[in-house]
Amino acid sequence: MVAVAILAAGRGTRMKSDLPKVLHELGGRTLVQRVLESCVRLQPSRRLVIVGYGADLVRDSLQQTGVITEGQHHQPALEFVEQTEQLGTGHAIQQLLPYLTDFTGDLLVLNGDVPLLRPDTLEQLINIHKEYGNAATLLAAHLPNPTGYGRVFCDSHNLVNQIVEDRDCTDAQRQNHRINAGVYCFNWPKLAEILPHLKADNDQQEYYLTDTVHHLDKVMAVDVDDYREILGINSRKHLANSYSILQDWVKTNWMAAGVTIIDPDSVTIDDTVQLEPDVIIEPQTHLRGNTIIQTGSRIGPGSLIENSQIGKNVKVQFSVISDSVVADETRIGPYAHLRGHAKVGEQCRVGNFVELKNAEVGNSTNIAHLSYLGDATLGNNVNIGAGTITANYDGVKKHRTTIGDRTKTGSNSVLVAPLTLGNDVTVAAGSTVTDDVPDDSLVIARERQVIKPGWRLPSPE
Ligand code: UD1
Ligand code: CA
Repeated sequence: MVAVAILAAGRGTRMKSDLPKVLHELGGRTLVQRVLESCVRLQPSRRLVIVGYGADLVRDSLQQTGVITEGQHHQPALEFVEQTEQLGTGHAIQQLLPYLTDFTGDLLVLNGDVPLLRPDTLEQLINIHKEYGNAATLLAAHLPNPTGYGRVFCDSHNLVNQIVEDRDCTDAQRQNHRINAGVYCFNWPKLAEILPHLKADNDQQEYYLTDTVHHLDKVMAVDVDDYREILGINSRKHLANSYSILQDWVKTNWMAAGVTIIDPDSVTIDDTVQLEPDVIIEPQTHLRGNTIIQTGSRIGPGSLIENSQIGKNVKVQFSVISDSVVADETRIGPYAHLRGHAKVGEQCRVGNFVELKNAEVGNSTNIAHLSYLGDATLGNNVNIGAGTITANYDGVKKHRTTIGDRTKTGSNSVLVAPLTLGNDVTVAAGSTVTDDVPDDSLVIARERQVIKPGWRLPSPE
């Protein structure tokens, strides 16, 4: 049985931010959310988050990300443990004592600021911990630049003698590049017994969790293969560095899976995005959130797609698509904006300077130029003339516009909602349509043109 505890009480002074460090985002998700997600697969029996600085903010933020609080993946609810004064990582874990009185399993401790850990690595740590019957097992890594990290000193069997924080190191100790990742698996009853005996006799006068190695037998270090996983975030520079590591992993993975990314350096892809083989990502394109793009689609250049589903063989150029769905063979852009649950059918064209908001569009419908369609339902084979606008908002409420199959609107039509245009309707250019129009009709709703033959401006005096 494994309980997970996440250290998330510190402010993170070096971030120079009012926001608690663990709430800073890395690729669309907060650091602490990422850490929690890395443990989902372990199916822990308890999940404790130690909060202090900005405790309410951390709690609210985690509660909003439903995935991890609503018991999905059979995850137990999060328990928040308050550490009112931040007297060190050892002091933070001491706060768990009243919560885990009856707990007899292992405790996995993770720093809330180490967001790139892979579930495989955690599984491996726990397996080795059990296999060797250790009192504690911790992740270590050889870093090219270990500055700022605690150094791990081991015997030849990887048994840990001591961990010395960077600031407490002698010059000689500082030459050791083997660092403590801040990820530990403890035999909880053994740890609980010695936790009250920690002393704060170090440079920072803090209670260090790392000092527990002096009291436990035996403590083993396990090296990670790829040190990039265990990089901690202490500054904005670290945040940017970890983001580019994440991007490198994500893009390498999709390219190996058959996606063409023409200019990877100019593209960003969240690790929640899903792509199919033979998708082509053009330069300056950004894919975010729960976006899915199906095979044969070409996205970009210059596009942003978030939380949207894009079908097969779709083309998107210089456009922004949020929370929307686009079906197969449709062309979007250049310069289109789909948002608020727009849904576009197959073989459509949504073209230059068109905005769709909460609009459902049938198949083979064209909305090619300069339109705003909000709160609208369009049938199949509709043609929306350039400059057609739905006037969906009366200043108080939003209203719906419904447009039947094969209906055509002339250029510069204003459709004043609530409004229904039937099937096979033609709207004359420049009309302001306020009343419903039945099937098979022409509607002209504008002043008749007046011509005065022989009329001239009076000549100036
Ligand atoms: C810690 C380790 C160091 C390791 C490094 C890895 C100790 C003493 N040192 O150092 O060996 O190399 O992590 O990243 O543990 N926190 C609390 N309460 C506190 C203090 C900290 O919850 O009272 C939390 C912080 O919010 C953070 C985590 O613990 O998420 C680590 O704290 P931090 O101050 O960043 O420790 P490091 O100096 O990085
Ligand atoms: Ca840290």
